Amino acid sequence: MRHTMAYGARGSSAVTAQRIERRDLRPSDVAIEVTYCGVCHSDLHALHDHEASGSDELLVPGHEFVGTVSAIGTEVVGFAVGDPVAVGNIVDSCGVCDMCRSEQQNFCREFPTTTYGGRDRVDGSATLGAYAHEYVADQRFVYRRPAHLNSAAVAPLMCAGITVWEPLSQRNVGPGTTVGVVGLGGLGHLAVKLARARGASVTVFTTSPSKANDARTLGADDVIVSTDEDAQSRARRRYDLIIDTIAVEHPLKPYLDALSLDGALCVVGYLGEVKLDILSVLIGRKSLTSAGSGGRLYTQELLDFCGENDIVADVEVLPSSQVNTALDRLARNDVRYRFVIDLSDLG
Ligand SMILES: NC(=O)c1ccc[n+]([C@@H]2O[C@H](COP(=O)([O-])OP(=O)(O)OC[C@H]3O[C@@H](n4cnc5c(N)ncnc54)[C@H](OP(=O)(O)O)[C@@H]3O)[C@@H](O)[C@H]2O)c1
Ligand SMILES: [Zn+2]
Ligand SMILES: [Zn+2]
Repeated sequence: MRHTMAYGARGSSAVTAQRIERRDLRPSDVAIEVTYCGVCHSDLHALHDHEASGSDELLVPGHEFVGTVSAIGTEVVGFAVGDPVAVGNIVDSCGVCDMCRSEQQNFCREFPTTTYGGRDRVDGSATLGAYAHEYVADQRFVYRRPAHLNSAAVAPLMCAGITVWEPLSQRNVGPGTTVGVVGLGGLGHLAVKLARARGASVTVFTTSPSKANDARTLGADDVIVSTDEDAQSRARRRYDLIIDTIAVEHPLKPYLDALSLDGALCVVGYLGEVKLDILSVLIGRKSLTSAGSGGRLYTQELLDFCGENDIVADVEVLPSSQVNTALDRLARNDVRYRFVIDLSDLG
């Protein structure tokens, strides 16, 4: 076993620094010295669920990170020590099911192995995330990142970015398409940047009037403060795709009503049960869909697109010792627009 320092929780929602085990390298494994890891709202959900469950199993969050290759297994091809790499929230899948064969490993029929909170497919151990100095992953889920981009700001592309990229890509969003983005946080601000870079016209729906100027700077053509009913009624302009990133349960009807014929509402933020009047979908032959993470091909496609178009997240970088501050501020919607923790200070 190898050991590394990490921030983890046991039965609490706050994390503390501790030594954890990493597996010895298998032939196709890559060891990565983690430099930066994004703080995703899913980390917050996971920590709160963990505390509520009363579990004493160790939870180490962190599933969007960058670093450099520090060691490779005997059968690794294409990666060498020192290479700049990035990893997202999937680190393994069965590789043979129809989903995996269609490059949608994120929908693997055996459920993909998540970067933390999952089970290793080989030895059944719990996966521990990248709020850590080192991570070990199979080479199939390690990606080359554009080295000319600010690496701290690349980290959020690996969860927040790819989660909104797949719906944009799958719906062929481009010039002439109108896109709505609901919630201007980690996922939302990247959805604005990416939709805009693809040539779409973008409207942001936000509950925070103070974010309106930022939304325009990020590339939005219009901003609707969703708590203002008059403003929300302007949303009757018709959108081809609305990506909804709100982290809590909320009514979907206003956003379904804002869609064009055959438009789609892609809910990626709140992943629980919803109440829905099917008539809202029937009128206009609309679709209600969702997305999560991405397949290997599309993840590399996103990184290449961001490299070509100089797209990165807007980040606030904090030393790893302030990770609990980042989590607390994220819970209060006090982030512009993604916290990234610097793990190079963890020995
Ligand atoms: N599908 C997936 O695979 C996937 C991947 C990553 C994350 N997620 C989920 O996506 C959600 C967003 O993640 P994130 O990291 O982008 O979080 P975030 O940075 O906190 O952004 C969420 C945004 O939602 C809006 N919001 C928050 N609370 C709200 C409320 N009570 N009512 C209305 N709007 C509210 C806020 O935007 P405004 O201030 O602009 O209103 C906030 O900035 C989380 O639930 C996360 O778990 C899903
Ligand atoms: Zn995430
Ligand atoms: Zn599979």
